[in-house]
Amino acid sequence: MPRLPESFLQELRYRCDIESIVSSYVQLKRRGRTLLGLCPFHSEKTPSFNVYPETQSYYCFGCGAGGDVITFVRQMENLGYVDAVKFLAQRVGMQMPEEGLEDPAGQLRQVILEINRASARYFHHLLVSPQGRPGLEYLTGRGLTVKTIKHFGLGYAGGEWDGLARHLKSLGYTESQMLAASVVAPRKNGGVYDLFRERAMFPIIDLRGNVIGFGGRTMGERGPKYLNSPDTAVFKKSRNLFALNFAKAAKEDKLILAEGYMDVIALHQAGFENAVATLGTSLTSEQSRLISQYASQVILSYDSDEAGQKATRRAIGLFDQVGLKVRVLQMTGAKDPDEYIKKFGAGRFKLLLDGADNAVEFELEKLRRKYDLETADGKVSFLKEAASLLAGIQSPVEREVYLGRVAQEMEIDKQALALQAEAVLKRKGAAQRKKEQSDLKNFMQLRPGEPQGMPRRGEQLTAAIAEERLIGLIYKNPDYAAGVQQRISPEDFTDEGCRRLYELLCQRLQAGDSLEVTALGQQLEEQDFSRLAGIIAASSGVHYTKQEAEDYIAVILRASKIKTKEQLAGLPQEELRQYIQSLADRKK
Ligand code: CTP
Ligand code: MN
Repeated sequence: MPRLPESFLQELRYRCDIESIVSSYVQLKRRGRTLLGLCPFHSEKTPSFNVYPETQSYYCFGCGAGGDVITFVRQMENLGYVDAVKFLAQRVGMQMPEEGLEDPAGQLRQVILEINRASARYFHHLLVSPQGRPGLEYLTGRGLTVKTIKHFGLGYAGGEWDGLARHLKSLGYTESQMLAASVVAPRKNGGVYDLFRERAMFPIIDLRGNVIGFGGRTMGERGPKYLNSPDTAVFKKSRNLFALNFAKAAKEDKLILAEGYMDVIALHQAGFENAVATLGTSLTSEQSRLISQYASQVILSYDSDEAGQKATRRAIGLFDQVGLKVRVLQMTGAKDPDEYIKKFGAGRFKLLLDGADNAVEFELEKLRRKYDLETADGKVSFLKEAASLLAGIQSPVEREVYLGRVAQEMEIDKQALALQAEAVLKRKGAAQRKKEQSDLKNFMQLRPGEPQGMPRRGEQLTAAIAEERLIGLIYKNPDYAAGVQQRISPEDFTDEGCRRLYELLCQRLQAGDSLEVTALGQQLEEQDFSRLAGIIAASSGVHYTKQEAEDYIAVILRASKIKTKEQLAGLPQEELRQYIQSLADRKK
């Protein structure tokens, strides 16, 4: 089967949001970050069909059906792969690419990534060299330690017109390659000049550890305050976040979203390593989805000025759509987190974080506008929704305060409102517990992708679980993959399906390709793909650490030493003896 260009698939995936496509077949209800409905592929009375907007995948815990938007249409409409793609392309008005075309952008992307990395190195070397003095003074003058500067790989672009261009040329890159990376701009009369000059440089690093672009801050008055790389073949501002590569490793289920590079760096330095920022643009729905992949709560920490507050309101709307909880930081006495920490210290910022306003006021205001409070009907509807909103407030004290406020405002008995909120709370609690229990049961009994019911026992089963987890971990933390690959090879996997998945993920990462489901779907048999969807489903909301990677690897390696009867029969005498010896050693 000729492969479709991945750029095409990626665009298709962005335009055919899985939520909207599946919704036209299945009635879905949002629950937190996932959507739930009755499975269209087997008959059931209680819903176990899950859609994960964050990874654009679906999985049914009942029957093991799973995949991406293309698989879904294939199964629903009974179509082959290419026809399903055509079906979707038509739906969103996209032209099918010429058949059999390779992805010519792939090689260029590799070169751009190399150039970016070389540029980041150049800027960083310059910063710590005598010529970089102004840059280093600027950054340390803003309170950054050497450790922080190194951690973020900050750099300095000098005043020369073509310092970087000449350096890249000496490494063998052509001007057209440099232009494609957008680290240089064309001169009027031929040749190129450095895009960033006399600036403190902030490399932007993606989840795989690739340098995908730069932000540069002027150190004087010249030019715009911040200059950002334009979008390139490897850099889409709207689909990335600054410092997510570090923040995703923070163990918290929360992310702090700030406005600027310096805010994020100051936050990390102060110990808040779960801070991220957009890249010189306002928040996009793609970014909110990305955030939902790594956290269930966002703490908005935008500037306290008018523009920042406007952006806050906009962001709340976007996070609502992906089911993320939002809290808003109210900073007084400083315009942004960077300034706040400098003025009041990290401790005080921590206090602010712990008490962050949970956007209740904001939500109430939305409800007030939604209903006509002059009419009795409107009032009733408002109170119903308000009760449910207030029931969601974690802190009892805070809940009490808001209950009082709303009751007074609507001139009703506070006790009555409290009762209503309590009823909501009970219903939610029971439903939540039930759901968790059944999910857990499903997960234990029928682990993702195992509907075929292969019996596995003991170490083999443990290994298969570890293998699935390891795949989930790599999927979510591609930057761990390099380390994992050094330790464990596909042959060490006991489960055939997991081996194929691991092999593919490693292959793609080495080639610098994305791990998006739509791209993977093209290279996997249906059975393996639904297995992967199950693994992704089970990893939703899970935060993996590097230590876990080690644990899984240990389990897998232990099991890989255990051979099946058939394998043993084929072993040469000497190896068989060694094997038996190793078993005996292990028993001791
Ligand atoms: N920004 C930009 N272009 C500008 C100004 C700002 O792209 N001309 C973006 C940058 O990503 C910057 C963010 O908006 O990080 C926030 O801008 P601003 O609040 O003006 O800057 P600070 O973060 O306060 O920067 P600094 O502390 O360096 O003054
Ligand atoms: Mn600032």
